[in-house]
Amino acid sequence: MKEKIESYKAELQSAMAKSKQELEDFRLKFISKKGVISELFDEFKKVPNEQKREFGALLNEFKEEAQAKFNSLIEAVNNQSADEVVGLDLTLPPVPSAGSIHPLTQVKNRIIQIFERQGFNVSDGPEIEDDFHNFTALNFPENHPAREMQDTYFIEKDPDILLRTHTSNVQTRLMEKGKPPFRSIMPGRVYRNEAISARAHCFFNQVEGLYVDKEVSFKDLKQTLYHFAKEFFGPETKIRFRPSYFPFTEPSAEIDISCFICKGDGCKICKYSGWVEIGGAGMVDPNVLTSCGIDPKEYSGFAFGMGIERIAMLKYQIDDIRLFSENDIRFLKQF
Ligand code: PHE
Repeated sequence: MKEKIESYKAELQSAMAKSKQELEDFRLKFISKKGVISELFDEFKKVPNEQKREFGALLNEFKEEAQAKFNSLIEAVNNQSADEVVGLDLTLPPVPSAGSIHPLTQVKNRIIQIFERQGFNVSDGPEIEDDFHNFTALNFPENHPAREMQDTYFIEKDPDILLRTHTSNVQTRLMEKGKPPFRSIMPGRVYRNEAISARAHCFFNQVEGLYVDKEVSFKDLKQTLYHFAKEFFGPETKIRFRPSYFPFTEPSAEIDISCFICKGDGCKICKYSGWVEIGGAGMVDPNVLTSCGIDPKEYSGFAFGMGIERIAMLKYQIDDIRLFSENDIRFLKQF
């Protein structure tokens, strides 16, 4: 029996466990009810009385050793499974949550959705534009001060190539290419050489709309924008038109909506007037139709334009336009 214990002891000492399975194998072999220790205790019963003291001590020592070894193997296996997850740097910040749709894109998509339901499709055009499509075709005479209204970034001179100052260039391109009727909106980025501040940026987004067909009148314009305002800002929204001037529309108007924050009572957002401006609009000037090869005696149309940042700032009460292009996720994740 002594040899048996010695040989099991040697086996015990060299035993290793790399996995939970090997740990379990060890337990079954040495510690379980059918294991080596139980077997030795059974044998111990048959040991002559005079040897019981010696063997008993040996056996108890072996049992304790086996238990201690088992405990150390458990620890080894547990530590190892932590080490095994290689390449995991626990000092890194948590995995960022999924991104969100940029507030400007959300507002743009909502605007598109509202106009699409009124039968408008979406058109696109170049951001780098020639003078004709950005100005001349839109009835901006050469050297007319109206060109000064839109501080332009010129890329080349003679012939002038510039960054479009409004998405009206898409209107001219659409009309010169196709045949009426046109019922389209043009969302896109535009550029103006303005000092960057909380209120103004050198690039921003507009959505313009154009509707040209037989017998289109100012009342169609009013109803279209009234529907938009109610859908976007809420069913109680009122709309008003103030006379204004744009070279490409006649008559022209600024579009105001009743302040949806104070419901017209007067607050900071509407500067206590009860109204906020959302864009410009008017009937397409006959000169513009002619420039684009459309007979103004046969067709008439309306056009409107709004700043997407401005609409988003009103809707979400954002007081700094620069936030839209700073990519600060603390700002972006609120939408
Ligand atoms: N293009 C004008 C602007 O950028 C907006 C506008 C479009 C006004 C259509 C009237 C009609 O300021």
